[in-house]
Amino acid sequence: MDTEEFSLPRSRTANERLHALIPGGAHTYAKGDDQYPEGLAPVISHGHGAHVWDIDGNRYIEYGSGLRSVSLGHAHPRVNEAVRREIDRGGNFVRPSVLEVEAAERFLATVPTAEMVKFAKNGSDVTTAAVRLARAVTGRPRVAICGDHPFFSTDDWFIGTTPMSAGIPAATTELTVSFPYGDLAATEELLTRYEGEVACLILEPAGHTEPPPGYLAGLRALSDRHGCVLVFDEMITGLRWSEAGAQGLYGVVPDLSTFGKALGNGFAVSALAGRRDLMERGGLRHPDDRVFLLSTTHGAETHSLAAAMAVQSTYVEEGITARLHALGERLAAGVREAAAGMGVGDHVVVRGRASNLVFATLDGTGRPSQEYRTLFLRRLLAGGVLAPSFVVSSALDDADIDRTVDVVAQACAVYRKALDAGDPTPWLGGRPVKPVFRRLA
Ligand SMILES: Cc1ncc(COP(=O)(O)O)c(C=O)c1O
Repeated sequence: MDTEEFSLPRSRTANERLHALIPGGAHTYAKGDDQYPEGLAPVISHGHGAHVWDIDGNRYIEYGSGLRSVSLGHAHPRVNEAVRREIDRGGNFVRPSVLEVEAAERFLATVPTAEMVKFAKNGSDVTTAAVRLARAVTGRPRVAICGDHPFFSTDDWFIGTTPMSAGIPAATTELTVSFPYGDLAATEELLTRYEGEVACLILEPAGHTEPPPGYLAGLRALSDRHGCVLVFDEMITGLRWSEAGAQGLYGVVPDLSTFGKALGNGFAVSALAGRRDLMERGGLRHPDDRVFLLSTTHGAETHSLAAAMAVQSTYVEEGITARLHALGERLAAGVREAAAGMGVGDHVVVRGRASNLVFATLDGTGRPSQEYRTLFLRRLLAGGVLAPSFVVSSALDDADIDRTVDVVAQACAVYRKALDAGDPTPWLGGRPVKPVFRRLA
């Protein structure tokens, strides 16, 4: 369908209602309609496998499902069956359910580098818990975050460092310092400058680039030398890099690590895992001051724990991580070939690990461009591809990937025309898309 004919009248009205009722028009800023071309922000009716349907009746091949959480596809039969079983047996009791033991055993069998685990609902709960625990065990106030990674928590220690820091006292933000990814010397310099003050280093073990050789082992050594806690945020890498996380793949063991997203395939479950002696500080079996470590009403909701167990079994038994990589490799190769074939190989650029692909849209001078992203997204949407990223789920099949590549090729042809014209404006259909983190609307 030609983009000019493609419109979403029902979604447009629903977006207006969303904004009237919910600040930001969505419950996650990253789902906001500001990140989609004007008038082309589909509101979803339902999903199945790798496909979603909007309320205008269009079907899309979906990437980045559930903000990367739905890695097995929507309404996955094994996960849903496990969830359904627990829903019928009660969701939350006045004492722990036996499922809490089983879920912990399953998790620690899947991630054997950790010795204890505690579950919660959101990734932010567990990264913040890791930070508090690190501060408690070290008695140090500062948190060192990797400044090249986009997100760690909705809590003040991290959001204070973003352009959306309104409402967060400077005194809190000053305690968070930042180090660049892949640069051991700069990190050492930071730890020396704040000697004895940094409670932890927190980073994603890998982002859109692989760790340089020896980097993670170097961070391990630096943390030991400077007496700080090494925290790997495995929210994205967990399961997508290997069932045992990036720590399992790269063989470097952090003191603490945090999981979420794919762990529940869309059900709300996250995990803080790590060294027994540190984790025990959140419990009763030590003489030191107790740490209030993840105590939430819904933390052990039975059906979410059942979802996590079913997800991990499915990953291990069905080789899901390898499937994600294979699908991603097919997609990346197809997109690169399509872009090169249309003469935009230097402008539509696929990056990242095959199981976690993103794309960049560069203008004529090679700079990232929200205008060209808008043009590209419009063409993808009109072609039935909903792809703020190219993050795959295992529910995609080769036909979905090939169809996506066809749509990308058509989008690239238009991209070329806009580059030749020197101005993409005629192809934007309204205002350009905007980045999530910005101070003003
Ligand atoms: C690396 C990373 N850490 C933490 C979080 C926070 O997780 P949640 O949104 O579940 O609180 C995210 C979410 O996008 C993330 O990508």
